Parts: sequence; C-alpha cells; structure tokens
Amino acid sequence: MKIMKNFTVFEGADGSGTSTQLRLLEDRFEKAGERPLPPLFTTSEPTDGPVGRLLRSGLKGETPLKSETIAYLFAADRNEHLFGPEGIAERCQRGELVVQDRYTASSLVYQGITCGDELPARLNRDFPVPELLFYFDIDSETAQKRMAERKTREIYEHLEFQIKVRERYKALLNSFEEAGSRLVVIDASLPPQEVADEVWREIQKLPIF
Ligand code: TYD
Repeated sequence: MKIMKNFTVFEGADGSGTSTQLRLLEDRFEKAGERPLPPLFTTSEPTDGPVGRLLRSGLKGETPLKSETIAYLFAADRNEHLFGPEGIAERCQRGELVVQDRYTASSLVYQGITCGDELPARLNRDFPVPELLFYFDIDSETAQKRMAERKTREIYEHLEFQIKVRERYKALLNSFEEAGSRLVVIDASLPPQEVADEVWREIQKLPIF
C-alpha cells in the first residue's frame, strides 16, 4: 500500500477529542512565533462537500440511507477529498502538512460494524495510508459523558455501539503499522492541553519539520 508523505490522521471513538485536538494544533502553529514551520492544512471527514453534507444528514437520521449506501458515500467523499482539485494528495505533494480528523480507519471500524468487514475493506483498500496515525484512546463511558453536552445525536453515538468501536480500533490499528504508517496511541482521557503537548512532540518528528 502506498504511504502518503506529509499526511497525518487523527482517529478515535466519538468523544475522544479529535476535533478539539485539531483546533489546538492550529493554535500551536499560529502561536509558534519566529520559528519556521511547514504550511499546515487541517481538514476532516465527512467533508463539507456535497457528499459529506449528504452523509451528515444521513448520520443525523434526517435522510434515511441504507448502511451500505453510507459506506459507499464515505468512500466517494474520501476519493474527492484526496484526489479532487486542491485535494489532500496535491497538498501533500507540494509540501504542506495535512492533518485530518478521521480517514479510512473510521470506515473500517464504523461501517465494519454496520455492514460487515468486506464492503468497507473493499471500498478503502486502494487509498494511500497516512505517514503518521494518532489513535486517541478513551474509555467508552468517559467518552459518553463528554458527549452528553452535545445537542444533536448521530446514529452511532450510543454506548453499546461505541464499546464496539473501541474494540475494533484496537484490533485494526496494527494493520496500519504493517502498511507503513507510524502509529502513536494517545491516552485521550488526559486533560486536552496535555494531549496537545504529546501530539505536538510526536508530530515534530515528521521529516517535514
Ligand atoms: P465526526 O465529525 O468526527 O463527529 P462529530 O461531527 O460528531 O464531531 O464524525 C462524524 C461521524 O462519522 C462519527 O461518528 C464517525 C463517523 N464516520 C464513519 O462512520 N465512517 C467514516 O469513514 C468517517 C470518516 C466517519
């Protein structure tokens, strides 16, 4: 499998803080001062594009979609995100550091639960793997408490499902290492600033710095 240089991905169950960590990383780049840093581009999946918007509506239960259709849509959203104009592939190649909230592992984990392993594995097998993969590990009950303050709930955001999500991530991650990604497992139950410090330490080991 192809490794995408300059591409870093954050993965974890819902409530593990990946979106917060992406924001804290942006802050860190802004406050870095004089020190020259590589250009940072942060992004996420599902995207804000047309397929991503349809997916969000499906995840909220507003648009009824079969679970297989959701798996296809995530792969379509990803293909456009990677290879479309100003996409991730282009940015990584021209020397930007792309840090992304969720990628293929999310499909293998979440759609693996809802559709079985075969379909998401087939739809995602040709996508490149990230150079660096962070997994934010958190106890499912703690994550659930963090999410309790959110207003809208998505179809996957209940405890029983999230326990399976965590088990599946743990079983899946070494396959990314085997494919050539550097894997960093983070204790996401720590205070967000401590997690951010750890992310920052690890990310600076990338050759782009
Ligand atoms: P996310 O944006 O991280 O959640 P939120 O908007 O609540 O912060 O992701 C939305 C949901 O999409 C999350 O439950 C995981 C799910 N997802 C998949 O099921 N498959 C995928 O391939 C991706 C990228 C996300």
